[in-house]
Amino acid sequence: MKITNICCIGAGYVGGPTMAVIANKCPHIKVTVVDLNETRISLWNDENVDNIPIYEPGLNEIVKEARGRNLFFSTQVDKAIDEAELIFISVNTPTKTYGTGKGMAADLKHIELCARQIAKVSKSNKIIVEKSTLPVRTAEALKSILENTGNGVQFQILSNPEFLAEGTAVADLLNPDRVLIGGDTSTDGQVAIDALVEVYANWVPRERILKTNVWSSELSKLTANAFLAQRVSSINAISELCEKTEANVNEVAKAIGMDSRIGSKFLKASVGFGGSCFQKDILNLVYISKAFGLNEVADYWEQVIIMNDHQKRRFSKNIVKTLYNTVSGKKITFLGWAFKKDTNDTRESAAIYVADDLINEQASIALYDPKVESKQVLSDLDYLETRSSDENKKYIEIFEDPYEACKNAHAIAILTEWDEFKEYDWQKIYNNMLKPAFVFDGRNILDLQKMNEIGFVYQSIGS
Ligand code: UDX
Ligand code: UDX
Repeated sequence: MKITNICCIGAGYVGGPTMAVIANKCPHIKVTVVDLNETRISLWNDENVDNIPIYEPGLNEIVKEARGRNLFFSTQVDKAIDEAELIFISVNTPTKTYGTGKGMAADLKHIELCARQIAKVSKSNKIIVEKSTLPVRTAEALKSILENTGNGVQFQILSNPEFLAEGTAVADLLNPDRVLIGGDTSTDGQVAIDALVEVYANWVPRERILKTNVWSSELSKLTANAFLAQRVSSINAISELCEKTEANVNEVAKAIGMDSRIGSKFLKASVGFGGSCFQKDILNLVYISKAFGLNEVADYWEQVIIMNDHQKRRFSKNIVKTLYNTVSGKKITFLGWAFKKDTNDTRESAAIYVADDLINEQASIALYDPKVESKQVLSDLDYLETRSSDENKKYIEIFEDPYEACKNAHAIAILTEWDEFKEYDWQKIYNNMLKPAFVFDGRNILDLQKMNEIGFVYQSIGS
């Protein structure tokens, strides 16, 4: 079976870049990305590719080349489903905010809606690919909806989890460590797996394309994120110990990272991990474990989240303590709001929680982030429901210029590791701040000695 027409439901951080790269590497396949959000789609179609709704280095170039040739963005969901032989489901699966499993289980309502729509519209056999990260055994639910509401057409369900990290999405997609495809062990299932293998084989070496059963594939995605997040929580736990003992967490990370059994990646101490995946996926793992009565397993993984919450809280508490136990009315400048550099995504960013804590202490937050828009910042704070939207607006001011943001501040907190922060004229920033001038570096990106020489009271995580 040879695929010539692909549809992807969901033009978000995962669906958009992934389909752009597939279209770019497979000019013989027509790729249509659909989304219910009309604004998002019109931005993807914006004549100026710099206006596409997702910021990822290199993405605009990839889109420019393929768009209009074999890459299309549309709101005509039914038409795209009908025409496609293979459909990726890439809608978001946030943590439930209501009912059973609130705060832990994944909310699958978007996935279910997609399945029902596919079942309703399809007139020919199709391969359905789960791209969104899903709890283990979601494919089963999908299958049951498709088979019981469809028009008698055959569906094969594959799991093909996304391992791209935001900020490096294009590079990760062009050169993945591995591509994982899970499918049914039946002959039809294997045919479907092979059809998707042929798509990726256009640019990914075959030895990096792994075939598994559906459940292994689904669980591998959750496990990969849980392991990565666990490394960050582990080094963050050590960072607190370093602060008490004069060990330096960067030195410790380097020393242990050179052990090839441990490895050097994902050992950067920080104010805490964020992003749409880590917390959600671990909570999922915890929820599933509990559902099977595996309480020790659940507690083991939950501790990774507890440590992360602690790290965020510890950072804000330290700011208050260092600023003489009161920040009421003080101007504290945040550099960075995104959950990491090179993305405009703010989901679960540590900055949100640190800001919330400091606003509780009545601090005035001034903020500069090179890519995040003001309305996003406010909606992130409102989402916590700690206080009213009007109240939040009173406590946070968003700047377009970092030097203006830092003027007359009591302290600066670095929340995202944007490269440009390292290039700033820190002497100039110092001159315009209230003294003593404090810098709390939540990402360990600045040079301690240089900052001390200028006169800053400089504190970084884990030293
Ligand atoms: C992804 C994955 O899907 C999620 O499982 C993973 O864990 C994190 O990343 P992402 O692409 O980042 O989600 O989400 P988002 O940027 O919110 O994009 C989802 C898109 O799907 C949105 O544009 C939304 O409008 C669209 N959508 C949602 C639909 O078109 N139909 C729906 O029914 C629901
Ligand atoms: C993650 C996974 O890496 C990716 O494979 C998966 O598909 C989606 O989830 P992403 O959330 O985009 O990707 O970002 P990632 O680079 O993993 O960073 C997650 C968080 O951990 C960020 O807030 C980052 O700043 C933090 N982090 C990462 C650290 O604090 N220290 C590190 O050493 C690495």
